Order: sequence, then C-alpha cells, then structure tokens
Amino acid sequence: MKPARLLLYARAGFERECAQEITAQAQQMGVEGFVKARPDSGFALFQPHQEEMGAELGQHLEFRRLVFPRQVVRTGELVSDLPEGDRVTPIVAAARALGRRFSALWLETPDTNDGKALASLIRPLTAHLEKGLRKAGVVIDDAAAEQRLHVFFVGGRACYVGVSDVANSAPWPMGIPRLRLPRAAPSRSALKLAEAIMAFLDERERAERLAPGTTAVDLGAAPGGWTWQLVQRGVMVTAVDNGALDPALLETGQVKHRRDDGFHYRPSDPVDWMVCDMVESPSRVARLAARWIAEGWCRESIFNLKLPMKKRWEEVERCRDLIDEQLGGAGYYLRMKQLYHDREEVTAYLSRRSRQAPSSRKEA
Ligand SMILES: C[S@@+](CC[C@H](N)C(=O)[O-])C[C@H]1O[C@@H](n2cnc3c(N)ncnc32)[C@H](O)[C@@H]1O
Repeated sequence: MKPARLLLYARAGFERECAQEITAQAQQMGVEGFVKARPDSGFALFQPHQEEMGAELGQHLEFRRLVFPRQVVRTGELVSDLPEGDRVTPIVAAARALGRRFSALWLETPDTNDGKALASLIRPLTAHLEKGLRKAGVVIDDAAAEQRLHVFFVGGRACYVGVSDVANSAPWPMGIPRLRLPRAAPSRSALKLAEAIMAFLDERERAERLAPGTTAVDLGAAPGGWTWQLVQRGVMVTAVDNGALDPALLETGQVKHRRDDGFHYRPSDPVDWMVCDMVESPSRVARLAARWIAEGWCRESIFNLKLPMKKRWEEVERCRDLIDEQLGGAGYYLRMKQLYHDREEVTAYLSRRSRQAPSSRKEA
C-alpha cells in the first residue's frame, strides 16, 4: 500500500498557508480530504478521504510549484506510543512497509523550539536506527535509489515515517539549506538571494546565466547584500537606492550606484537580470517585475514580496494573477517560494524564457 498522507514542513506560523495551498492543489486534482495544521507546530498534514486518491496526489504533486511547504513527505499513520526501551523496532517496521532501498535516512523534527529540544533527544537514536534498518534488509545509502526515507519526530515517542522523491523534493534535511553568511557580505539579506539562486536555478543555469560579464539592476539595493552576491559571480550591477551602499562594493568597479526611485528607474539598455528587495506592497512589486519582463528591460527577475499579516496565501495568489494579466496569460515562467531565509515574505523568479514548458497562470 502506498502512503496516502502528505506531511508538509512549514515555517512556524505558516501552517495555515501550507494547508490552503495543499487544499487548492488537492481540489485541482479532484482529491478530497482535510488538513491538520496546528498553529506554530511547524508542519501540516493532509489526510485524504480515500487512501488511493491521497497516494495519487502525493505522486503527482510537483514540489517546485509549491510556495509555502519546505518539504513534502508521503507518509502513513503517525507511529505513536514508541516504547522508551525500543523505539527502533516500530520505526523499522513502518519503514520496511515503504520500501527496501533508499538514498538516505533523514531523522527530522519541526523547525520550532520544541523541535530543537526533540532533535537533541533523538540524535543518539540515529546509529541504532541505521543498524536496525540494515538488519531488516533496508538499504539507506543507495545513491541510485529514487526515494529518501524520512523519520519526522513530533514528540519523544511519536513520529511519521515517510518517503520523498529525490527528484521532486527539497534536497536538504528539514527542507533547510544551511548557508553561512560570509563576513564581507554587507547584510544578512545576502543569504536570501543566495538561497533564491540555489532554489530557482540549477547548477548549469547558474553557470550560464549568472556568468561573469552578465548585467543586473538591483532595485532597493542598500546596504548591498544582493548586489554583493551578484558581484561575487562577476555580474556588473546597477544598484538603485536612495540609501547608502557599502563603499567596498563601489571599489570593485562592478557596481554603479543610482540614487533613484526603484519604481521610476529604467535601464538605458536591456539587462540580463532585475532583482528587487524593496519594502513595498507585494502587488506593486509584482506588477513592476512583470512590467520589466513585458517591456524587455530584463530577461529574468528575482524579487521579494513582503506579505501582509493576514491573508498571505490570498496575497500570493493575487500577485500571480497580476503578473499573469500583465504578461498576457502565457509564455512566461513563474515560481514563488517562501525560502528558509524569508520571514513574512516569499521570493519569486520570473522570466520570459520558457523552461521545461511554456507557462501560464494555470501552470505557473
Ligand atoms: C530590505 S532593504 C534591501 C536590502 C538589500 N537587498 C540588501 O541585501 O542589503 C530595502 C531597501 O529598499 C529601499 N527602497 C524602498 N523603497 C524604495 C524605492 N521606491 N526606490 C528605491 N529604493 C527603495 C530602501 O531604501 C532599503 O534600502
């Protein structure tokens, strides 16, 4: 039996948005069910009314199209009442029912304070679990295996045991990329753009499209974390902001500073990239990015949308609609993601270039 429930890892406080998103996806695929999403728990669980339909949804859901979930794991029922003396045996039994060969075993917890406390409690379990799985004939380090095994603890004696597809999931434990802030970076925001580049472009795309000599405009650039990321890749940047830029950036010879309003600035020649981290209403920024693409002022854009306190999912959907409207409903590629380094915000990637398939509102 294929696992029918979907476990969605969330930033604490965004469980509701995960629930809204998975409900919308399930409805689109004609799958009925309900979501358990306790506020601040750091996860949501979609439970289908019909098991086969849930398994179907899990297999066809495209992770890269989801905005709020950091990870999606197909799981069975909660494995609870784990005996304190032997937590391994029930977990091994649940894992064995899911398969015999996995590319990795990840022991995880929600990204919350309770989760952090749990993590230190379960760390010593890893070696025992690995041993137990091997003894039961379960391989957990087969580089060619298509699935990973996840054991997600929600309490000292309760966990979900599930799988993710290596090719259709976040490639980091807990869905969290561990990035270090280099000392020279002018602001912590630098991590946001670094993560966005990792999330939206694959290695080949990064090498080709953020190559030395490519050009970018950074709207709302000060103090310069995003500009710094681009400069590291050899990009020539026009940094637009009335605020002051880190002087070290200007010394690189790759950066021109324009003290201007990001909503009025236009490049004299088209550039490869427009990036934008202005603190403004999300719909205004979404319209601006779509205009840059529509007018051909840039080929690709990464921009951050600061979300309101309420109706955050609705706001994301509204921004999608605005972009779709401005770009005539087709022929663009849009992705949005709440990155680990995003707080009350999401980051978007938009281009005219069609990637896997030409995108439209329905697909994007
Ligand atoms: C969150 S900060 C950007 C941080 C920057 N990405 C970094 O990595 O250091 C937002 C910036 O947007 C600028 N900003 C806000 N509205 C703007 C506008 N209309 N035109 C230009 N800059 C604007 C602010 O001056 C501020 O420096």
